[in-house]
Amino acid sequence: MNENHSPLLPGVAQAVREVGERANLTLDPLATGLTEELADRLGLSADRVVTGPGSGALLQMFLSTHAGPGTEVVHAWPSFEMYPLLIRNSGAEPVAVRSDGPRHDLAALAGAVTDRTRVVLLCNPDNPTGDVVGHDQLAEFLTALPPHVLVLVDEAYREFAEPGTLADALALAADDERVAVVRTFSKSHGLLGLRVGYLVAPPSVAAPLRSLTPFFRVSTPAQAAASAALRAEDRMREQCAEVARERDRVRSGLLDLGWPVPPSGGNFLWVPLGARNQALVDHLAAHGVVVREIAGAGVRLGTGSPEANDAVLALAKEFAAAQELAVGSVPAASVALAVDSVSVASVAPADSVSVASAASVASAVDSVSVASVAPANTEPAVTVALAADSVSAATVASTADSVPAATAATAATAATAATAASTANPAPAATVAPAADTATTEAAPAPTAQDPDAPGPQPPGKESAV
Ligand SMILES: Cc1ncc(COP(=O)(O)O)c(C=O)c1O
Repeated sequence: MNENHSPLLPGVAQAVREVGERANLTLDPLATGLTEELADRLGLSADRVVTGPGSGALLQMFLSTHAGPGTEVVHAWPSFEMYPLLIRNSGAEPVAVRSDGPRHDLAALAGAVTDRTRVVLLCNPDNPTGDVVGHDQLAEFLTALPPHVLVLVDEAYREFAEPGTLADALALAADDERVAVVRTFSKSHGLLGLRVGYLVAPPSVAAPLRSLTPFFRVSTPAQAAASAALRAEDRMREQCAEVARERDRVRSGLLDLGWPVPPSGGNFLWVPLGARNQALVDHLAAHGVVVREIAGAGVRLGTGSPEANDAVLALAKEFAAAQELAVGSVPAASVALAVDSVSVASVAPADSVSVASAASVASAVDSVSVASVAPANTEPAVTVALAADSVSAATVASTADSVPAATAATAATAATAATAASTANPAPAATVAPAADTATTEAAPAPTAQDPDAPGPQPPGKESAV
């Protein structure tokens, strides 16, 4: 998962502690206070806002309410890997539409809509590609859709996008009864573990979701934390801007290697290396950094502390050198600078593109840790971001071999529990579609670093013929 590694926002820890002291009381079971506070901030009536235990739960509630057996839900691919699972949980059929390289193909998405389509899911910015759909693009997309279709814009990462670039979906929703928006406190506000998000929709679309809220309730500590986080908006924006700066710094380091990394509006980067994806995943994993490959299309790199990002950059340079992917040679001095405490002795001579040994990179970065979460039962691959301050370098270095498996196991268990708790109709693990399992088409050729736009991702469900 793409956590936010910034410190907790001011007031959050205290709010949770205070409400924790009264955990025996019912307090505000339907989060009416938080819902009204959100509505107030957004300038909306409260009947347009539904709060829930994270945007994932709200996505499920929305799909279970507005899609279902005999219907289809259209989404881009690559996009949030949980979409096919959530759609199937509702009884509907996912229709995956290949993106145009890392960019949404909005015309193809519109073209995939049929009489059976009830919902189009649009992730903006997209996870994992980071693609940002602008306002005019989204407005035009809506004009291409028929009246019977609802569009749910998933803005889980909106605060990391460059200001002014992202479509104002709420403004479009104000005039278009087909549009709903889902947001979360998990990423920008750093409350992932507390589980709170909200959905904005016309009253007629929002109302039926409320009958599910008794079982998708937001806990009282989460309500208090969200309220406190809302009051720390300036700090939240500063922290997100800092994450975005780090993301762009890492991107520029990867571009220097000749890698085709598109701009990202999320707190992660999309690295499509085609046939080399797995090798990159393996290389990073061997050094205690576990990242996620998405269905052969690319690798999603999370962002962490500056030191952790430096370590990833150094490992990427090492990998590029070894794989001969770099367009130019990498001077040893710049590598040494990237990881500021790598011992000079371990850096190869200036004319070599080989960098420091794995162990020396890991041991140089004393705040690297591996915070790993696997999506619930989707596949054995693991999402891990680099975090600061929890595991010492020595631990990372000494556990490099075992981190991926151990982390995957722990994280998958936790994620499974979370999903079970937040899903109306949880699918058993066996029904979760692995990315390639149910694709109806032949495997497309994997993109290469030279040709990142070539089709590669395997859609996890029915693929649109468009
Ligand atoms: C695009 C997207 N939407 C929704 C979610 C669900 O987040 P949460 O349930 O924590 O709000 C995620 C989590 O990774 C995500 O990436």
